[in-house]
Amino acid sequence: MEKLKTYQEAFLEFLLEKRIKEEPNNLYAPINYILELRGKRIRPILTLMGAEVFGASYEKALPAAMAVEVFHNFSLVHDDIMDEAPLRRGKETVHTKWDINTGILSGDAMLILAYQHFENYEAKLFKELVQLFSKTAREVCEGQQYDVDFETRNDVTIEQYLHMIEYKTAVLVGCAFQMGAIIAEVTAEEQVKIYEFGRLLGIAFQLQDDYLDAFGDPEKFGKQVGGDIIENKKTYLYLKSIEIGSEKEVSTLKDLFKDKLEGDNQSKIEQSKSIFNSSGGAAATQDAIKSYTEKAFTIANELSISEENKQLLLGFGTYLMNRRT
Ligand code: IPE
Ligand code: IPE
Ligand code: MG
Ligand code: MG
Ligand code: MG
Repeated sequence: MEKLKTYQEAFLEFLLEKRIKEEPNNLYAPINYILELRGKRIRPILTLMGAEVFGASYEKALPAAMAVEVFHNFSLVHDDIMDEAPLRRGKETVHTKWDINTGILSGDAMLILAYQHFENYEAKLFKELVQLFSKTAREVCEGQQYDVDFETRNDVTIEQYLHMIEYKTAVLVGCAFQMGAIIAEVTAEEQVKIYEFGRLLGIAFQLQDDYLDAFGDPEKFGKQVGGDIIENKKTYLYLKSIEIGSEKEVSTLKDLFKDKLEGDNQSKIEQSKSIFNSSGGAAATQDAIKSYTEKAFTIANELSISEENKQLLLGFGTYLMNRRT
């Protein structure tokens, strides 16, 4: 995946060039901190790739790629406050390293900074990009609210869960791709297709994130393993286990997810993971990841782009499905 490296390096160079050196330091230092931690940079890469597969230069897509990465990082800073997460990318989360108020305000500033990157485009592109971006950003907020609401509900359905992850995660992946297509000025039909490819990949991506949150290697994953279990998140692992588990497994799991524990969560995490495995919930999650990735690939094959470019998209999908970080 030579191309991916090119995108990653070009993006990182651009990001460092745009580093904010202004005062007050307590506003901007957390922003530079989170943006410069080792993230996978998936969304900006997709914007650059989206532009190139449709024939535009990736350089033209760099400001939009920056907008989506800054927005993503803003959402992580606030998400980590909401999820009470101590670790991000193997380092302390912003609100742990500084405090909650710093996380709130630096996050707010990042949302604004994200929009400012669109000022680099002329009026027509600016409008199209901002329209898509704003629609997506609101959906992300809706998804985040459902995610939090579901923590204290015990009647969440798989359909509701899928809607929630579509909004909190998948739409931004679709948006990242479509912004590349907008910059390449392709037809609305092609734009919809690449968005759809991203949306389906994004669902697979969040399912994989849920899986790794329980079963990932703490070193590689860079986040607190078991965090979703501590927070009683109604993930696919949980919901499938409830659907297909034995009576005993279901009642134990429901019991474990009733309250948040103040102290040691190790036993809750171990017991939950054991039931995710024995009930078949974990295997079903792996199947769902594969199935959404395959659905995405069907769409990618319908795009009016070269075979080589299709392979680039499919290669990226395969990389996402197999990721451990
Ligand atoms: C984390 O996204 C948030 C989710 C939507 C699961 P990433 O896994 O892309 O995080 P980074 O940017 O690589 O750290
Ligand atoms: C985060 O979902 C989605 C957004 C930040 C919008 P998660 O809460 O699962 O993400 P991680 O696991 O903390 O990265
Ligand atoms: Mg989180
Ligand atoms: Mg969350
Ligand atoms: Mg997660």
